[in-house]
Amino acid sequence: MKRIAVYTSGGDAPGMNACIRAVVRTSIFKGLEIYGISYGYDGMINGNIKKMQSHSVSNIIQRGGTILKSARSEQFMTKEGRKKAYDQLRANGIEGLVAIGGDGTFTGAKVFFEEFGIPVIGCPGTIDNDIYGTDYTIGFDTAVNTALEAIDKIRDTAAAHDRIFFVEVMGRDSGYIAVECGIGGGAEFVMVPETETDIKKVVKSLKNLRKTKSSSIIVVAEGGEEGNADQIMEKVKNKIQDEDKEFKVTTLGHIQRGGNPTARDRVLASRCGMAAVEGLIDGKSNCMAGVVSGEVLYTPFDDCINKTKPLTGDHLKLIEILSI
Ligand code: F6P
Repeated sequence: MKRIAVYTSGGDAPGMNACIRAVVRTSIFKGLEIYGISYGYDGMINGNIKKMQSHSVSNIIQRGGTILKSARSEQFMTKEGRKKAYDQLRANGIEGLVAIGGDGTFTGAKVFFEEFGIPVIGCPGTIDNDIYGTDYTIGFDTAVNTALEAIDKIRDTAAAHDRIFFVEVMGRDSGYIAVECGIGGGAEFVMVPETETDIKKVVKSLKNLRKTKSSSIIVVAEGGEEGNADQIMEKVKNKIQDEDKEFKVTTLGHIQRGGNPTARDRVLASRCGMAAVEGLIDGKSNCMAGVVSGEVLYTPFDDCINKTKPLTGDHLKLIEILSI
């Protein structure tokens, strides 16, 4: 293997740049030529492929976003699109790929490998922390800290006005961001897609809590069966029927995706990036380089995509106990 390429795909995550940097510099260190594909699979299809040097990744380790840009490609979901991408890779002499992204990115990479045989190794880049085969994903720690900072600020104003705040955080179908910023931010409740939301129970507890607390923070993960934070707030408000109490909603949205990556995300990204290149050199493929219990581990894409990473039991228990 002499020439490989790296791309970022799907939702961006803080730390993707640190990962690109590690892939580029490890490749050069090991004597490989390294190319960057811009705009993920769309860029692969359109031949948006450029050679990278060590200096191409200077001064990016601290930056959020991705210098290679990202996209969610409709075209790559078709066989014709993937054939075009393969032709572009061949025209550029690319013999291996590093895919930085989440499960959608890995699904594309797996199909592509099975159809055309170009070795590919993934690095887990998503704020959602919903990938099996790594304890944490690149971007998760930064996103949790961003959400936490927002919750701290909301708590100040919630307390000043004796209000109940519903704070909606990202995570698609995963409650990881919600539980971790909920624990760190001292939330009274956290609602996650992994467990059923019992509105009656929330109402009962909120009424109880009013004896000791004048304000409350409820963290709502997007993707739950009871709807978004606005809808949940309305349901709770209707049941509490307290004219004196004010309810507010804050949706944190895409601010969770940006910002300078934390030290943890930079280190994780660097480790995964280096491991991906080393894995390709060792002849590995169709798998993701992640970190499990402190050790780098390669997990087949099949498992990363199909196995779920459940919330650990003590996350939700902690919130219940610590919010009394
Ligand atoms: O997967 C990352 C993520 O930020 C999810 O948490 C969220 O549901 C989704 O992407 C938002 O996607 P988009 O940026 O396309 O709106």
